[in-house]
Order: sequence, then structure tokens, then C-alpha cells
Amino acid sequence: MNKKIYIINGPNLNMLGKREPIYYGNETLDEINKQIKLKATELNIEAEFFQSNYEGDIISLIHTAEEKGCDGIILNAAAFTHYSIAIHDAVTSVDTPVIEVHLSNLHKREEFRHKSVIARACVGQISGFGKNSYILALYALDDIINNK
Ligand code: DQA
Repeated sequence: MNKKIYIINGPNLNMLGKREPIYYGNETLDEINKQIKLKATELNIEAEFFQSNYEGDIISLIHTAEEKGCDGIILNAAAFTHYSIAIHDAVTSVDTPVIEVHLSNLHKREEFRHKSVIARACVGQISGFGKNSYILALYALDDIINNK
């Protein structure tokens, strides 16, 4: 496989399966990641998965992605989406394309979730399709990498 991507999940996404299933479904993050991995393999992409509850970890992963041979990032920054200028700035600091994803439809939820401070730094945003948000992002990222 000559393409490598990171799938980065932010705070509280390690609680999937238990956390607010009405918004996030019943599957665990591991179960979702396995399905993303299968789809990535079909596309000849090596997928590496990360989850952190710490902003700095996510920033460091974004900074070091390129030197580790990573061609693109699918990022669910979770609650950091709504206020982390530092993650916005990490994305603008690198050339690695980043696609923002969310399981739930942010615009159907509380007003504080309507605003993403990282969206303008990302290639695009996919929100509201559950685990398929990641799969859709995978196709989009594959196309970006192939056309580089
Ligand atoms: C989320 C939406 C965020 O508002 C929330 O803080 C999350 C998950 C989603 O995937 O729908 O933790 O990013």
C-alpha cells in the first residue's frame, strides 16, 4: 500500500457504544474503526487510528503526520471542534490535507455545536452520517491523494 492516512478522534469518542447512543449509535470506536480499515484496504490505503482526550496530543499528531509518511487526515476533533483555535492553527501549519468529520449532524443539535472553528482550515466537513461520515471522508481523501 503506498497511501497512508490517519484517522484521529478527539475527546470522549473512546466512550462510543455507551455515550448518548441517540446521537452516536451503539457501536464502539473499535467496531467502527474495523469497518473503516476494511474500506481503506479496498482502496489500497493504510489507515492508522488514534484517539485522544488531550488537545496537545492531537496537535502533535497533525504536526508530525507528514514526516511519518501520512498523506492525509480524517479528523473528528469532537468538542475541540467548537473552540480549539490551537487545532485550527495546527491544521494551517501543515500541508497534509485534513477532512473534518462528525458522526452527528452538528446543525440539528445545540447552538454551541453549530460553529466549527477548525472548518475553515480543513478541505471540507462531513457531518451527520454516523460511521459513514468517516467512509465518505475516506473516498474524498483518496481522491485528493490520487490527484496530488
Ligand atoms: C461530534 C460532535 C461534537 O459536537 C461532540 O462534542 C462530539 C462528537 C460528532 O462526532 O458528532 O464529541 O464531533
